Amino acid sequence: MERLLIRGGTVVNADSSLLADVYVEDGLVQAVGPGLEIPAGVRVMEAAGKLLLPGGIDTHTHMQFPFMGQQAVDDFYHGTKAAVAGGTTMILDFVIPSKGASLLEAYNKWRSWADPKVCCDYSFHVAVTWWSPKVKEEMEILVKERGVNSFKMFMAYKDLFMLQDDELYPVFCQCKELGAIAQVHAENGHLIAEGAKKILAMGITGPEGHELCRSEEVEAEATQRAITIASCINCPLYIVHVMSKSAANVIVRARREGKVVFGEPIAASLGTDGTHYWDKDWRKAAGYVMGPPLRPDATTPGYLMDLLANDDLTVTGTDNCTFNGCQKAVGKDDFTKIPNGVNGVEDRMSIIWEKGVHSGKMDENRFVAVTSTNAAKIFNLYPRKGKIAKGSDADIVIWDPCAVRTISAKTHHQVVDFNIFEGMVCHGVPLVTISRGKVVFEDETLHVVPGDGKYIPRKPFADYVFKRIRQRDKVCQPTPVQREPYQGEIVPHCPAGTPDHG
Ligand code: URP
Ligand code: ZN
Ligand code: ZN
Repeated sequence: MERLLIRGGTVVNADSSLLADVYVEDGLVQAVGPGLEIPAGVRVMEAAGKLLLPGGIDTHTHMQFPFMGQQAVDDFYHGTKAAVAGGTTMILDFVIPSKGASLLEAYNKWRSWADPKVCCDYSFHVAVTWWSPKVKEEMEILVKERGVNSFKMFMAYKDLFMLQDDELYPVFCQCKELGAIAQVHAENGHLIAEGAKKILAMGITGPEGHELCRSEEVEAEATQRAITIASCINCPLYIVHVMSKSAANVIVRARREGKVVFGEPIAASLGTDGTHYWDKDWRKAAGYVMGPPLRPDATTPGYLMDLLANDDLTVTGTDNCTFNGCQKAVGKDDFTKIPNGVNGVEDRMSIIWEKGVHSGKMDENRFVAVTSTNAAKIFNLYPRKGKIAKGSDADIVIWDPCAVRTISAKTHHQVVDFNIFEGMVCHGVPLVTISRGKVVFEDETLHVVPGDGKYIPRKPFADYVFKRIRQRDKVCQPTPVQREPYQGEIVPHCPAGTPDHG
């Protein structure tokens, strides 16, 4: 394990910035402060004029996900390698069992894929795609014995992953009971299925059909429905991949009403838009196909960034789920067959710096909040992750806020042959990435070893999420009205329906 002294940088946490040295040993931050003494044999890294940020936490990835008849090309090795090149030191990926399949077996399968390959720390959300007493029991085992504290439910992908409202309800109840956060992919799967038939019947088979068959309303309706169901149970809720103004507005209103709801916009929805679905180049247009879709309203990314800056939206992920052009091409004559997914894991930090901080919408502290700290708080990793402080994991990025880079598929570290941010010029460049005390990226060179990352188990009942929930359960219960017993006449109940008064 390297011993490192990072000297003279500005340590940026979510609450404050401080000119300080950082001493790292045994994978942990051992000291933070000005003018730290240099123990013998320690590597010194000069960081004057640079920022030291907690490593990014990407809340939403799908490495090597088998989906829509294809397998995502960025696996746990290439995906996490690209992550550290972009300043991200932890990913939260999804275990997604088929309907009827064991959640525990799926979890084991995903662990066997990830453990030998990951180059940075990671953890798993688990999807609940069907409901039964066995699923309920397995959710409990996952929380109590496997370190899972978040479950994702799909309101879309009819017949594949989608749950109905009367299934969402007991799953949310079980999440709350276990102290896990319920996450939803919020889109109305029935309306998408009908919309797709309608658009195909109109002769629209290209990628633009993907957006046309699932408007903003389809996302907003499901977002509202999930919030309503969660609210009936006083269950905290996390809306993954917020893609539209309409869905975001639903979240804003719920938060204003005091509901415990968190919204996760992603690099794609903050950095680009859905006008590309109308591009004449089929391959390019298909490259942006994901669900929910990017929106043709080109003011959407700026709007979502404003909400993120102002704490209406809380965290950022990427939904990184990458398919090459030849895989997307299975849907060349039918947009419903184009595998859904885009890149982002490598570029999220730079996109948010450029569109959020460089633009003046948020400061460096809010940047840290939305790229790592809030995720660490929601998923109960804080202050081990999401903070540079004595005792925290030494997941640190030396960040040059003035350096500029141009994003391109030709130079990115991901396997995928396309980049939805192609040509975008971003201020804010990670110079060095340190993952649990090890320098894994420096001088534009990766020093990663597959399997060096660790699975990070997470405890349930994160304070950030559950403190308010528990208190409300204590003090906000309805109580019956105390009345004198009714003494008047009672007409006997007529089981056959309306009594015949003739
Ligand atoms: O298009 C997407 N989002 N692909 C990954 C699966 C999901 O819904 O998150
Ligand atoms: Zn989803
Ligand atoms: Zn996803």
